[in-house]
Amino acid sequence: MRQLMICLLVIYMVSVSSVCIASTGLHKENKGADWGGTDYMPEEKQFRMVDIIGKKRDGASLSKGEIQYFIDGCVDGSIPDYQTSALLMAIYFQGMEDRELADFTMAMAHSGEMIDLSPIKGVKVDKHSTGGVGDKTTMAVAPIVASCDVKIAKMSGRGLGHTGGTVDKLESIPGYRTVLDKDEFFNQVNEIGASVIGQSGNLAPADKKLYALRDVTGSVPSIPLIASSIMSKKLAAGADCILLDVKCGSGAFMKNVADAVTLAEKMVTIGEHNGKRTMAYVTNMNMPLGQNIGNALEVKEVVDVLNGKGPEDLTKECEELSATLLMMAGKGRHSECLAMVKEVIKNGQAMNKFKEMVQAQGGDVSVFDDLDGFTKAAVCYEVKADRDGYIASMDTEAIGIASTMLGAGRETMESVIDPTAGITICKKTGDKVHVGDVLAVFHTSREELLSPAVKRYLEALTYSQQTPGQSKLVYAVVDKNGVKKL
Ligand code: URA
Repeated sequence: MRQLMICLLVIYMVSVSSVCIASTGLHKENKGADWGGTDYMPEEKQFRMVDIIGKKRDGASLSKGEIQYFIDGCVDGSIPDYQTSALLMAIYFQGMEDRELADFTMAMAHSGEMIDLSPIKGVKVDKHSTGGVGDKTTMAVAPIVASCDVKIAKMSGRGLGHTGGTVDKLESIPGYRTVLDKDEFFNQVNEIGASVIGQSGNLAPADKKLYALRDVTGSVPSIPLIASSIMSKKLAAGADCILLDVKCGSGAFMKNVADAVTLAEKMVTIGEHNGKRTMAYVTNMNMPLGQNIGNALEVKEVVDVLNGKGPEDLTKECEELSATLLMMAGKGRHSECLAMVKEVIKNGQAMNKFKEMVQAQGGDVSVFDDLDGFTKAAVCYEVKADRDGYIASMDTEAIGIASTMLGAGRETMESVIDPTAGITICKKTGDKVHVGDVLAVFHTSREELLSPAVKRYLEALTYSQQTPGQSKLVYAVVDKNGVKKL
């Protein structure tokens, strides 16, 4: 009897411990398989922000519960800015592992409205640039893909720091409305195939708060913070396919190719794990894209691209991105999609689509018939070379700042943009110049803004006596299968 009792006790203990082992194993397994994270968190668990900051400062990963507590407190204002900023700086230094980054991104996306694009028929695509100088590709890509029967319902941002924003550029067209109500937005995309508007007020409000603090506390150029900031908005915006243009170089947040590729990989992983077909291009921002920086000037250059007369780098990038979006939407192989893109530019459909989109949003399309009048600024000033040589490099961030100084961007939150202000670049990296050649034409409404901007521009250029090597337009393409370096 005694032996039987001992035997039953042993069986009981073994079975209890194996249940414990199995459940621990299951918990771990779930954590790996479920991208959203499954940390067990008792309802009553109380977090302290100071502990969360300390944990990240020391390099540990935050749990899903801790992340949710932080994001909720950020949005409802219960966490003070100094603690939020401290955590952001800890993340800047310690980074985030993949599960943690996915939880952080999803918590940010769900902090506001998750837009349901299902009233729009068919596959919906979206594109996003991480921010550059002279990057006007969205305005060309939207009508190009729409002319190839792929829908693009795009929410864009305003200029940030030295980088321009699509919304500011489109608003240089008199009457163009960047605020549409949801039904109007959906109807326009159903009817015309494209709409580009400003970001809805309630899209990822956590990002709005975090971005504003990062901007003034030195934590903008952090790979996990940029990845979560961009992808939270993209996931909330509801498209099926997301194409990211990760800018790399002196005019971008990512200054080197390795960091830009890592950022691209992180964003592609986040998108794919959330059921979105996601790809990323890593492109050159060591010089401005195209020849014009500034709002009306960039609209003019987009019209040139759509009329088949745009600068080579900009045209190529717009064609590449458009073809890739068509491919992602299932329109065919990349080469077939590229042929479709070139055809709609050649036969005028893409330009007509741009007009249709602008008109539908209240914009005055007659400006496209008089582009010189549309872009004419009160003051135009030629900046001339003071030496002979080849342009060896352009500090593109400084050039973006020079354009802002002319009135094309905001110096403060209250600044009013001058739509005709900006820079037309006549000589870029690799070009040979002689003393007296025009390097750039500055456009502004206020003559007194010229002198500091010219100084900034000239300091941004370096020269050499030999021709620098040809620079690449695209460094790499990233998809769920990995990185293809070009
Ligand atoms: N663009 C964003 O939306 N967020 C960043 O963090 C950087 C660029």
